Amino acid sequence: MAISETMEKKINEQINAEMYSAYLYLSMSCQAQDMNLKGFANWFYIQYQEEVAHAMGFLNYVQERGGKVTLTAIEGPKTQWDSALAMFEETCKHEAYVTSLINGLAALAVQENDFAAGHFFSWYVKEQVEEEATAGEICSEVKMAQGNPGALLMLDRELGTRTFVAPIIK
Ligand code: FEO
Repeated sequence: MAISETMEKKINEQINAEMYSAYLYLSMSCQAQDMNLKGFANWFYIQYQEEVAHAMGFLNYVQERGGKVTLTAIEGPKTQWDSALAMFEETCKHEAYVTSLINGLAALAVQENDFAAGHFFSWYVKEQVEEEATAGEICSEVKMAQGNPGALLMLDRELGTRTFVAPIIK
């Protein structure tokens, strides 16, 4: 059974939202690099890769369900943050917003009795719990490191160890 026109439109919007997230984190990665925080830059770069994977998951799903993918312009992200903390505060806020979008998709699946879509979205529902928890944890750590260059350096080293593992979305 193909997805409804409304579902197709909403998932296409989500592809754009995930690509925007990717662009936002890539911008943060570049900004962290400029601030000489290479570990933070690495963390945000991997976050960028994850967001592209999220977008691709939705893209593949539209095609699998016989829908049409329509790519649209990606809004330019912010390019300047005052501090590593400002970047992580925005990350937390942004992920909470993405969660609301994913919840909207899950609600639409229920409304349309599209159980297959609902099942597919549940991967993203769980992923968002993790995304928000991780961003929140790091945000607290950055707050604790404020005004303490040694602690910030240690955190930077820790964030530098993050590696990209392609998610299996299904
Ligand atoms: Fe695609 Fe960070 O959620």
